[in-house]
Amino acid sequence: MAFNLHPNRHRAAERSSTPPYHERVQLPPHIRRAIEERAGAIGFPALKRAAAALSDAYRDGKPARLTNDEAIAAYLVTRMPATYAAAHAVLGELRDLPIRTVLDIGAGTGAASLAARAFFPTADPVTLVERDPSLASTALSFLPGATAVHTDLNCAPAFPPHDLVIAAWSVGELSAPIAARLWEAARVALVVIEPGTPRGFALIRRLRDELLAGGAHMAAPCPAAIPCPMVEPDWCHFAARVERSSLHRRIKDGALGYEDEKYSYVALVRDPAALGHARVLRRPQHHPGWIELRLCTPTGIADRRVTRRDRAAFREARSADWGSRLAQPKDGAGV
Ligand SMILES: C[S@@+](CC[C@H](N)C(=O)[O-])C[C@H]1O[C@@H](n2cnc3c(N)ncnc32)[C@H](O)[C@@H]1O
Repeated sequence: MAFNLHPNRHRAAERSSTPPYHERVQLPPHIRRAIEERAGAIGFPALKRAAAALSDAYRDGKPARLTNDEAIAAYLVTRMPATYAAAHAVLGELRDLPIRTVLDIGAGTGAASLAARAFFPTADPVTLVERDPSLASTALSFLPGATAVHTDLNCAPAFPPHDLVIAAWSVGELSAPIAARLWEAARVALVVIEPGTPRGFALIRRLRDELLAGGAHMAAPCPAAIPCPMVEPDWCHFAARVERSSLHRRIKDGALGYEDEKYSYVALVRDPAALGHARVLRRPQHHPGWIELRLCTPTGIADRRVTRRDRAAFREARSADWGSRLAQPKDGAGV
């Protein structure tokens, strides 16, 4: 069995649009410095209390209202690096698209727009839709040239068209349906990211099914626009490895220098996109002499065991990671 994910490792690295899961992604240095300054002005005890309140709210599945400077600073230190890393991993999948304008729905402190700027640095306008003026002004301080629209997403009848519409960790906080309004505004692509929980995935799956039925094309993570083959109690999610700042470690009383942010997502496009052959659905299991991969393929979910004897396949399996999109195999010689 030739696995044939990519012709060789070097080209695989060039062509892979998903950063390896173990690669730690960080906010740009000037944003990290700005966050440290804001956190310094709050003082450690108040920051730690606010971070604990935030984390309790998220653990209980409640949307957290960031109503004061302490809560915003706690979000900046403990949550924004993670939402940025996940948005960065997802938007990397779309890096080749002609994105010139960005609409960030439920922008918060601007993590998704910052990630969009990493791939589409000249995008203009970058428009932030956010109900909370203090969050929007924080985001604008990180995103020179961007503009903010203060509105309640539940009530807005329509959004201004932009090439890329991204809604990161916001759709799950809404009480009104929003999928059709998001899609109508997306001239090139729509990306929705939610927590990598059964609830977050269920929301993504509903939105995916609704918009595919309405004519959207799949871009990622699915290798085909078939009915989602995932069966409960499993759920489709991925992870971004996030570098923790020393302040973040102190707040969390955590010894680890990183954490894994779990997320579920869908990226849909107006024009049909070349899809990979398969998506790696969980961390590959490495055993002596063989590697086990769980894949989503155009015919459903498949567990693949690749042995060292199959040299080319084994080499390729070694470079695969959780969330990797595997390239189309040559002449039916793939998984
Ligand atoms: C969890 S935060 C995510 C922020 C940001 N997208 C990120 O990835 O870090 C959710 C954001 O959605 C905003 N939001 C929630 N409900 C909203 C509504 N009805 N109208 C406008 N914004 C809303 C919140 O104010 C908050 O900034």
